[in-house]
Amino acid sequence: MTGPPVALVGDGALVPCVGGTQRPYLSLDAAASTACLPSVHRRVDEFVPWYSSIHRGAGYKSQFATAAYEDARRAAMAFAGRAGRDDVAIICRNTTEALNHLAYRLRLAPDDVVVTTVVEHHANLLPWARVATRRYIECGADGTFSVEAVEAALDEQPHPRLLAVTGASNITGWLPPIEAIIGAAHRRGIPVALDAAQLAPHRPMPEDADFVAWSGHKMYAPFGAGVLVGPRQAFSAGDPFLAGGGAVDLVDLDEVVWTDPPDREEAGSPNVIGAVALHAAMDALGDVGWPSLVDHDRRLARLLRSGLASIPGVRLLGPSLEVETLPVAAFTVDDTPHALVAARLAAEDAIGVRHGCFCAHPYLVRLLGLPQADVVAYRDDVRRGDRSRMPGAVRASAGINTTEADVERLLAAVARIASGEEPPIEYRRDPHTGDFGPDPAAAPWNLDLGSHGSWCSPG
Ligand code: ALA
Repeated sequence: MTGPPVALVGDGALVPCVGGTQRPYLSLDAAASTACLPSVHRRVDEFVPWYSSIHRGAGYKSQFATAAYEDARRAAMAFAGRAGRDDVAIICRNTTEALNHLAYRLRLAPDDVVVTTVVEHHANLLPWARVATRRYIECGADGTFSVEAVEAALDEQPHPRLLAVTGASNITGWLPPIEAIIGAAHRRGIPVALDAAQLAPHRPMPEDADFVAWSGHKMYAPFGAGVLVGPRQAFSAGDPFLAGGGAVDLVDLDEVVWTDPPDREEAGSPNVIGAVALHAAMDALGDVGWPSLVDHDRRLARLLRSGLASIPGVRLLGPSLEVETLPVAAFTVDDTPHALVAARLAAEDAIGVRHGCFCAHPYLVRLLGLPQADVVAYRDDVRRGDRSRMPGAVRASAGINTTEADVERLLAAVARIASGEEPPIEYRRDPHTGDFGPDPAAAPWNLDLGSHGSWCSPG
């Protein structure tokens, strides 16, 4: 495989737009989920005829499928830089499940302190809230924090049991100085759990993080597998997160002998096809190589962020343009609700972005600089079932398949909206969801998600 941009399955598909036209779909939502790499699709197709139960069958296909699953596990260890260490890779659904799994398994007491940051995705905030006391590292108005701020939080008493931190923000693409942060924690004897959901498809993993979690669906393997990597010894005692078949050696009616990790942590029939897909994706990224991936990201990040920042009426959130980020940009457009900007990009330009709070409410509130009174007011509205005043932003995020022309297409569309040009059709807002959609009379292709009780900005 050559360097980026690399086409993904479904690229160029025509989707309906206003005026009865069809346009090639442009996904700029890689930070949420990516389409499938052709090599991943092929590997899955080749494997499907051999699919069989794993760890549970004596037949040839069961052995073949078990070997494929265990190969994926080994590849995940290598991808996380763990080859040669006494670590285990636990295959789960995604980063959220991995971090919930870890929070359960660390057997923390309610007054144990987990240091985390206001930059985190909810997946790296909420699981810790259930099991421990959280201490936060604040960010500045630009959405970043310093290693000194991390050190100060680590040095407060009581001594923390864990530092839980992201490798890259899903809103701004900011890359915290993760090696220095891990070093600071380790010098104080504090283990680090790294949310690598955004980092994994873009940068090599820091090898020193004690626990690492990431997802296949953000790295071109959308078949439902993710990974939690950590020291074997952390999973060798105590109850696993899920109890059931495959996790045990012996069961009597009032007794269980759990088996060894990683099987101990994977009760129930595993997602073999997800693991095969994830393996193929890790192979593919390895074939392209980090230098080429990083170079692609840097070029796109610069173009995307500086392009948005230069459009009158657009406010780019997050770090200044000199700071390196992933090709992820969150922005607002003056006098135009975030939900309307996203709806217009979809309906008029066939561009798919995400809008809202991006499953990281504390961070977004800080990036927007919202006064506490506003936060209280919109929470009251939401409790009454009215999401129309929900604050938020629009996010564009690029992947291995994104070209510079794709970014230019977005910038032109955003500039048109920000210029105050009237929409060519009417958009209606559903107050229950807060989303805008084209008036169905003008857009018969409108899928009307609201009628399913579903919308595009929750989280
Ligand atoms: N965490 C994903 C996002 O940021 C879903 O959109």
